Amino acid sequence: MKIKASEKKVKADLIVVPVFKKKKLSIKGVPTKIFKGDLGETAVLDHSKVFIGLGEEKELSVHKMKEAGSKLAPIAKSLKATSIAIENPKSDIGMWMAFALALKSYKFEKYISKKDKDKIKTITVVGKTVRYAKETETFVDSICYTRDLVNSTSNDIGPKAMVLEAKKLAKANKNMRVTVLDRKKLEKMGMGAIISVGQGSQDGPYIVAIEYKNKPKKGSKPIAIVGKGLTFDSGGINLKPTGHIETMKQDKAGACTVLGVMKQISKSKHKGHVVGVLGLAENLIGSKAIRPGDIIKSYSGKTIEITNTDAEGRMVLADTLAYTEKKFKPSHMIDMATLTGAAIVALGSDITALLSTDRKLAKTILDMANKYDEPTWELPLYEDYCKKTKGEISDLKNYTKTVRAGTIMGGAFLKEFVKETPLAHLDMGGTAWTDQGNSCSPQGATGANVVLITKVIEELMK
Ligand code: BES
Ligand code: ZN
Ligand code: ZN
Repeated sequence: MKIKASEKKVKADLIVVPVFKKKKLSIKGVPTKIFKGDLGETAVLDHSKVFIGLGEEKELSVHKMKEAGSKLAPIAKSLKATSIAIENPKSDIGMWMAFALALKSYKFEKYISKKDKDKIKTITVVGKTVRYAKETETFVDSICYTRDLVNSTSNDIGPKAMVLEAKKLAKANKNMRVTVLDRKKLEKMGMGAIISVGQGSQDGPYIVAIEYKNKPKKGSKPIAIVGKGLTFDSGGINLKPTGHIETMKQDKAGACTVLGVMKQISKSKHKGHVVGVLGLAENLIGSKAIRPGDIIKSYSGKTIEITNTDAEGRMVLADTLAYTEKKFKPSHMIDMATLTGAAIVALGSDITALLSTDRKLAKTILDMANKYDEPTWELPLYEDYCKKTKGEISDLKNYTKTVRAGTIMGGAFLKEFVKETPLAHLDMGGTAWTDQGNSCSPQGATGANVVLITKVIEELMK
């Protein structure tokens, strides 16, 4: 999809006119009783023009601009409008609306034989000093790329296919290079944690590192982003029940978000050094699968009792994080993972949980989350809970029954595998996927945090 800016009016199937709520609103052809300019309110004229309410001007926020924009999606669809022009009232309102409209209009068609012919091709934001058209277009592309990967089924995209995807991405960009560690190499290096998760499957496990390097500042360290890439999470021998297992292709969302961010960074040709590392595995059951009660030795040297085979994401990340720190010596590490169902209980499906060992990094993430409307809330790495990751007959255990704060325990476990690098852990267990659709996304993968993490990286590289 193309997103453009134009100073002059353009021809389009649908013209969008955003309107603030006012006491005496008068629009030719629209009765004031029907349309008051309330947020998200719409009035369609002649099948070719739509007035959309923005609400009170002083109450406007990025979230509300997006809400208004996404309200246009069903209208554009029913009118079969493939070109849309949005009049820009002021500043970046029109561009945020275009962004939301594009994302809400996303359709996952990979497995549908008859593709939709009436999809939106171009959105033009019309007005003087319209900014960010190219960046918005690229973001939409990167987010939809992430969504396509997450929505792809586990029989289509397994660990090996994720490796190929990473290679494909890097091949398209001369500033990228890929390192792949396959099972043999992981075994040789002593990565017992990721291997324990992947040993029930024929496919994987792998660790893949994508390095992006474009004239970084002299002496600067790379920024590392790390993603949980479980192409399917059956729960293992602690098998997930019906109702919880069906959407577990989404458990690779962290890794797919890393790929989306790497794509975005490379397309916008940022100067700097960024590494994206994927921990890839498939958590299955069978005669080779790891058992509850087994103890393994991780890459860090710490031993872990597997008290629950369904707490596999932290096992994969334990080795992936330790490897990333040792190999790349980054200035910061940010991991993204659909780590816990408890994140849904704590924050629902719109807000990502953040846990961090570093105040400054946490603040940067929360600031960017606010600015770019990627709802994020911090949970504490409370020390008394953290202590309870210790095992009875091993250094650590991957699940502690007595602490109900599952999302905190996930973060508490992960920080054991990072020695000195500031770490931020984003638990997207709630936000990677939407069962009903949300403000900017239809049902399925959301692409959450592609914008957030790109903006955080840009901020850290300043
Ligand atoms: N992948 C799941 C978490 C998840 C659940 C993500 C629902 C998205 C939607 C993770 O591997 C898991 O199973 N976590 C367990 C941890 C528990 C056994 C400590 C959970 O949250 O129940
Ligand atoms: Zn699990
Ligand atoms: Zn999982």
